[in-house]
Amino acid sequence: MTEKFETHEHDVLIIGAGGAGLRAAVEALNQGASVGVVCKSLLGKAHTVMAEGGIAAAMGNVDAADDWKTHFRDTMRGGKLLNNWRMAQLHAQEAPNAVRELEQWGALFDRTDSGEIMQRAFGGHTFKRLCHVGDRTGLEIIRTLQDRGVQLGIDVYMECTVTRLLLDGGRIAGAFAYWREQGRFVVFKAKSIVIATGGVGKAWKVTSNSWEYTGDGMALAYEAGAELMDLEFVQFHPTGMVWPPGVQGILVTEAVRGEGGILRNKLGERFMEKYDPKKLELSTRDVVARSIYTEVREGRGTEHGGAYLDISHKPAEYVKRKLPGMYHQFKELADVDITKGPMEVGPTFHYTIGGIRVEAETGAATVPGLFAAGEAAAGMHGANRLGGNSLSDLLVFGRRAGLAAAAHAKKTSAPAIDSKQVEDAEREMLAPFEHRGGPNPYEIHRELQDTLQSLVGIFRNEEDLKRALAEIQRLKERAANVSVEGSRLFNPGWHLARDLKSMLTIAEAVTRCALERKESRGAHSRIDFPEYDPVWAKKNNIIIRDGAGMALRQRPVPEMPEELKQVLAEDK
Ligand code: FUM
Repeated sequence: MTEKFETHEHDVLIIGAGGAGLRAAVEALNQGASVGVVCKSLLGKAHTVMAEGGIAAAMGNVDAADDWKTHFRDTMRGGKLLNNWRMAQLHAQEAPNAVRELEQWGALFDRTDSGEIMQRAFGGHTFKRLCHVGDRTGLEIIRTLQDRGVQLGIDVYMECTVTRLLLDGGRIAGAFAYWREQGRFVVFKAKSIVIATGGVGKAWKVTSNSWEYTGDGMALAYEAGAELMDLEFVQFHPTGMVWPPGVQGILVTEAVRGEGGILRNKLGERFMEKYDPKKLELSTRDVVARSIYTEVREGRGTEHGGAYLDISHKPAEYVKRKLPGMYHQFKELADVDITKGPMEVGPTFHYTIGGIRVEAETGAATVPGLFAAGEAAAGMHGANRLGGNSLSDLLVFGRRAGLAAAAHAKKTSAPAIDSKQVEDAEREMLAPFEHRGGPNPYEIHRELQDTLQSLVGIFRNEEDLKRALAEIQRLKERAANVSVEGSRLFNPGWHLARDLKSMLTIAEAVTRCALERKESRGAHSRIDFPEYDPVWAKKNNIIIRDGAGMALRQRPVPEMPEELKQVLAEDK
């Protein structure tokens, strides 16, 4: 059966070519595995570049008192203690080496006067901790990893979308995919698969995510029987562009605030004095996003429904040197000179904090042979992610997942591809051409975005979440009959019809988890349950496929060892 299709075989198949996928690929190659990287977009075009302001690592170059323990403590406190403590520990301990390694591979960083990697302040970090290259840090990391991967000889399958994971008696056997340009189907055989496809931002209307981020990897893992965890936690970055409408949601890096930017409402009030008088603009993202949202809702927003963010009190040359991307972004897209006046900003969906449940040490998901890293994986960030921790997360856990995936492939016999699964996958992809007069995928996508934006946003309540769930069910029924015109060649409507399935699955999981968690914690704010609930401090929400339906249950949060409890209790 597979002879019918173009087929490729690798020990390790990596789905997604952002920072986590590339770092996993480099590590698996280092272990001698044959590695294929499949990405839906062009190599290097990844959400990693949207982590602009820096990578968090306790190097102590600017603030010598910094150490892994403080980074661990900040991460756990920022995540409202719901983090997988072991992931937070490994991350804090291994991030500095991950940065040094990148530097050895050619990454350029801004420097201190004494020539060390420069570090800047970011929300929720006790010390100046973010290693950076102006405001283009993610881009530099992708460039470096891409070069490294190419030097080592990764096979890259670009503009190729995976639509199904193939199993052999419950373990990973490969994946079914299609080439986006030609619409041809392709089968990948693999002993191990690493999912590194990022999040689901494109299911919301206002987002910093680009078209690729439709929750594919999480949905593929779920369909294959893996557990998803804590999806109620999605991050609204406090500062996206709000004007003009065509650029709404594009990220305004936290580095603006890290370099001294001040937030004001239309009355000129520095409103963060009210919400977090100690940390002000460098409070954690959940707090700053809620504060801006509240100012707007209570009538103190700017002309276009945001807040003012001002860095123009700093010398113009300094702003242009430290924030060159922001300077050009505002000049070109909004005709605003940020060295002379404020930007208008508002919250934008930026990051999916929950995701595939994985083991801390290896990134192993709950399906044998399946691994996940980066934004697609859950646990590291708990209930709220600190800015800069995503870049270090993807290096630390990308490396670990690549290592474990290669080790798994080494000790595993070649799995068999089941032709029935391949036939089903092909039939599913062809169905939209056979449905005549069914709904249009663009319409369903727009309705999904409107629903999530208005009902599953920064502030939530039971009534809205129930309405959202009913609406998602209705959209799922319509999406099952979606029809597309034309052929398989260069057909974006067809691509969206497939992406919708993933977005709807993950949207349902987010909404179910949000409805279930009857408390407010980190990025999940319930106006009907505004307080922390100590009972919920001990529970992770787990989503798992149950026949054709979705089941939700809870798992206890693993108990932290005594020595880490002490670290957490210390203060600097
Ligand atoms: O604001 C930023 O530069 C984003 C960083 C991040 O999401 O980690």
